[in-house]
Amino acid sequence: MLDPRAKPILLSPPHMSGEEQRFVDEAFRTNWIAPLGPNVDAFEREMSEYLGVGAHDERLHCCATSSGTAAIHLGLMLLGVVPGDTVLCSSFTFVASANPIRQLGAEPVFIDSDETSWNMSPAALRRAIETLAAEGRRPRALVAVDLYGQGCDYASIEAICDEWDIPILEDAAESLGASVHGRRCGTFGRVAAFSFNGNKIITTSGGGMLVSSDPAIVERARFLATQARETAAHYEHTVAGFNYRMSNICAGVGRGQLLALADRVARRRAIFAGYDAAFGNRAGVRLMPEPVWSRSTHWLTTMTIDPARASCTRDLMLAKLAAERIEARPTWKPMHLQPLFAGCRMFGHDLSRAPVCERLFEQGICLPSGSSMSETDRVRVIACMDAAFAPMRAAVA
Ligand SMILES: Cc1ncc(COP(=O)(O)O)c(C=O)c1O
Repeated sequence: MLDPRAKPILLSPPHMSGEEQRFVDEAFRTNWIAPLGPNVDAFEREMSEYLGVGAHDERLHCCATSSGTAAIHLGLMLLGVVPGDTVLCSSFTFVASANPIRQLGAEPVFIDSDETSWNMSPAALRRAIETLAAEGRRPRALVAVDLYGQGCDYASIEAICDEWDIPILEDAAESLGASVHGRRCGTFGRVAAFSFNGNKIITTSGGGMLVSSDPAIVERARFLATQARETAAHYEHTVAGFNYRMSNICAGVGRGQLLALADRVARRRAIFAGYDAAFGNRAGVRLMPEPVWSRSTHWLTTMTIDPARASCTRDLMLAKLAAERIEARPTWKPMHLQPLFAGCRMFGHDLSRAPVCERLFEQGICLPSGSSMSETDRVRVIACMDAAFAPMRAAVA
């Protein structure tokens, strides 16, 4: 019986380093409470420096935004997406990867995952592009999502997109700190977007970052994100802009968080390793795989539970954890299954089988992965999961 005083264990709560206060205090001391300010400039610079490492010596430019969604919206606009366009997008993702496509009047075409990374399947991508080309359509852009802390197979995806001259927007909202072939996530594609939402590996309480190696793209993003104000003493506007910039207070939080990023990555990887040690060898259980070319942050530890082989189902596991006040969730429901995107096309990984991402959703679970999770809490989660697997095992025996 659960002790009613047992404190809830959350999926991925914010984890302050203590350094944030210094930057926020400085903003208060100097009365830089408004949007923009020295913390925003410094946060953009520090992110550029962080991303520049290992990115083939490319200089990255950053524009801090009010959210990751805002960065994706601006990014797609800057890739030239206009009404009537087709935009390719990972199906297995959070809705914010796809909403801006629709909001720009374009039509998303969804791409399945592959088993090896759970991210966009290069095989499905190629088939989608070739099918659309046979119909006389060339996608304006591709939104490739780096899921749960892991980058996509960019060696394959970039090669395919280069062949067809399709620009990539890397949705790295969930993958700051990860890398692919030693190159940091957020440096692939013509534009990338990060999120600093409260549940991410580091947070600004709410915010995002648009990244590009093209300074003209980032300059235009800054312009559009600040109401598209032309240079003039009065307010002069020639295009409709947005109020999409980050505040100086939020950027102060982000600066303090960025100092702790390496530790947060190490901690999340250790949490994944703990789940792997406990359940990785169990029949029917599979943790999200990490291909040799990937270094995942394991922002969220995720696993599939195959009801035909495991002694538990995903939904039973969710119920058992909820009963113990432990927050867990199903993996993302693929976009092509969302009522919002009913009728949109989806290209599967393997034509002879059901889409990979449908199984990942039906069997997938996201487990508590917060970098501040204590050893006691970790043991509590593992014990609860062990017990959830146990009764059916006894019944089978
Ligand atoms: C894959 C993905 N894309 C985009 C977003 C949107 O970021 P934000 O919440 O900062 O708008 C999120 C998370 O929230 C996400 O997980």
